Parts: sequence; structure tokens; C-alpha cells
Amino acid sequence: MNKLSLIVIATLLGAGMCLAQNISLPAPEKTGGKSTLETLWNRQSGTEFSERMLSDQDLSNLLFAAIGVNRENGKLTSPTASNKQEIRVFVFTAEGVCEYLNAENSLRPVVQGDHRDLVAGRQGWVKTAPVILLMVADEKKFGGSDERSTVVMGVDAGIVSENINLFCAGAGLVTRPRMSMDTQAIKELLRLDETQTPLLNNPVGYAR
Ligand SMILES: Cc1cc2nc3c(=O)[nH]c(=O)nc-3n(C[C@H](O)[C@H](O)[C@H](O)COP(=O)(O)O)c2cc1C
Repeated sequence: MNKLSLIVIATLLGAGMCLAQNISLPAPEKTGGKSTLETLWNRQSGTEFSERMLSDQDLSNLLFAAIGVNRENGKLTSPTASNKQEIRVFVFTAEGVCEYLNAENSLRPVVQGDHRDLVAGRQGWVKTAPVILLMVADEKKFGGSDERSTVVMGVDAGIVSENINLFCAGAGLVTRPRMSMDTQAIKELLRLDETQTPLLNNPVGYAR
């Protein structure tokens, strides 16, 4: 995200317009990155990030990789069991938290302020990543809360995380899939109810 975008987000959030106005992202690119095989050879988890904010384009490409719409029928880059598309992605930055709205490729501001520490939990290095993506399973969208549903939503979140892992490996970004976080505090911050569960997160940044 460039300086202008940060100012736009900060201004919107600061003005209390959180619920009034979404932030459009540039269209995700259709070419670029390393080949599939090179990407797989590069894939690894990291913990050292440059503090430099992602460019708007890289952020858009990253979110597209996670749960972007890649077909006219509305289906996504990440498959989901029974096509339930129940995994939501929230974006934590130093400025605030937004939700990625994939149908319109935009960010919906949710809360202002730097809350990356809640995702970091006891792993302090996570806070140095300029962007943290949080995967939240939405039971209402999935249509079940039994043991089997819980497992399947975890699988779906894992696939989203792996899309992020592979995008980062192909684009030269650093990331690490994580299950550690202060789940209860995040639920309170984002005003999630008992049917919406943070499952995984990926801090993301440029290499240091
Ligand atoms: C589901 C899942 C949860 C993970 N949770 C954490 C975590 O909470 N903290 C962490 O530092 N790494 C976490 N990891 C990363 C693993 O530790 C890492 O993938 C493993 O050490 C193998 O290293 P590699 O990814 O470089 O191959 C997690 C990985 C997966 C797949």
C-alpha cells in the first residue's frame, strides 16, 4: 500500500467513516511471478520482514491469491468444500483492520489502530510484518457447526493460507502460516459472534 493509500485509510478511519466507505484496490494482475515449479522450490516460512508497506498492487495480488474471484460465476482462487466460500479474510496493518471484499476487490474498514499484537500473541516478530492476513471461518455461510464441519472449515482455511504461501513464494514476499493468536481478543475487536472463528493467519512483508 503506498503512502497515499495509507493516508486515505487513516483519514477515513480517523474521520469515523469506518462503515461509510470502502477502499478500492487496483485490479489484480494476470501475469507475473515465478513459474509454479520455481515457486514450489522457493516455498518456505519466514520470520523476518522489511517494515516497508506492501504496494497497493502487491496487496491486491496477495488478496486475490487468498480468496479473489477468478471466474465470472463468482468462484474463487481457493476451492472450498461444497462451494460454501465461508472463509473471510481480514487485513491487519499499522493503521487499522479491514475486511477484504472479494466481489468488489475492495477493503472494508472495520476498526482503526494498530492491533497486530493481538495476532502476534507471544511471537513478537509477527508485529514487524506490515500486513497480517487473518482467516475467519463463517459457520453461517458454511451451514454447519458439528465436528465434521469444524474440520472441513479448517481445511478450507488451510487452503487459503497455502494460496498465500505460494503467492508469496512466487512473488518474492516473506510469509508464515500461523495458528497462534489471541483468538478471544480478536473476536472482541472485530465484533465476531460465536459462529465466526479466527482459524489461521499469515504475516506478510517484503524480505529484509
Ligand atoms: C496449520 C499451521 C499452523 C502453524 N502455526 C504456526 C505458529 O503458530 N507459529 C509459527 O511460528 N509457525 C507456525 N506454523 C509454521 C510451521 O512451523 C512451519 O510451516 C514448519 O516449521 C515448517 O517450515 P516451512 O514452512 O519453512 O517448511 C504453522 C504451520 C501450519 C501449517
